[in-house]
Amino acid sequence: VKTRISELLGIEIPIVQAPMSWIARAPLASAVSNAGGAGIIETGSGELDAIGEECAKMRAWTDRPWGINVPLAFVRDPTVVDFVINCGSAFVTTSAGDPAKIVPALKASGLTVFHVVPSLKGAMKALDAGVDGLVVEGVEGGGYKNAVGASLMVLLPLIRSHTDVPIIAAGGICDGVSMAAALVLGADGVQMGTRMLSSLESPVHQDWKDAVVAAAETDTVVIDRPGAPAMRALRTETSLKMAYDREYQLADRSWIPKVYFGGELDAGLALGGQVMGRIDAVRSVADILPETWRDCQARLASFAS
Ligand SMILES: Cc1cc2nc3c(=O)[nH]c(=O)nc-3n(C[C@H](O)[C@H](O)[C@H](O)COP(=O)(O)O)c2cc1C
Repeated sequence: VKTRISELLGIEIPIVQAPMSWIARAPLASAVSNAGGAGIIETGSGELDAIGEECAKMRAWTDRPWGINVPLAFVRDPTVVDFVINCGSAFVTTSAGDPAKIVPALKASGLTVFHVVPSLKGAMKALDAGVDGLVVEGVEGGGYKNAVGASLMVLLPLIRSHTDVPIIAAGGICDGVSMAAALVLGADGVQMGTRMLSSLESPVHQDWKDAVVAAAETDTVVIDRPGAPAMRALRTETSLKMAYDREYQLADRSWIPKVYFGGELDAGLALGGQVMGRIDAVRSVADILPETWRDCQARLASFAS
């Protein structure tokens, strides 16, 4: 089975690995591309020198298509457009901001561009900017969120009823049945964040992966501070304080390596989505991708019959 996403991106399995700052680098992204999906390299960390090296590794480690993400609100460096055009990726996803600023330059260079949207209004704005497709992201997903956003069950059919462009669904997808549901709701492919974060090839500390496996579907919290984008994270003492105690602040970004690679989950925010309640093992993306796609197709066939 081919979908418009597999055809547009030139991949076998229409599953995209979510961009995740500091995490979505060559070891994870190349494993996803080599498994038949599309890996994505992040730029949200802002570490363009290091990311340039990751792109060189991608060119060496896979001959399959891969993408790069620009979360516009976090990457203010004006050189990022040239950087992205020259990095060797097959496609770009833009997120967290107004895509009109950079879509014309990206399109002029021949790149396929998707924009991540949390609402119908955002989708219409992205289409006006000339994107090739949308990543439609429900509020149940991990990471930066629209705090008053809708769940994928509401958002995806709503946006699909207004446009025919290819759509990648994100938020709450971790296996064949959730992928099949997204395709039925109008998607042409899916993006997985929390599932990839907790995969064998993910570079985060084992304690973070184990916490995802142990978590219930009720174990996330949305932190929505004035003047900052809202985020969905694992429920910990720290994330609860961030969510409900307006006086409490994380001092600076020094917590990031402690949480991400040191396993000190209470030192900051361990981002992740509600789907952690459905993830029960740390597994290789080389197993997750084909199994998800096989099961998705079997579910669709069994419903059709
Ligand atoms: C740790 C983490 C970091 C993320 N960073 C980004 C990012 O830099 N850019 C972006 O567009 N989305 C980011 N996201 C959102 C994901 O791209 C994805 O859409 C989301 O995780 C999908 O929901 P799921 O977690 O239920 O799969 C992040 C998500 C997580 C869990």
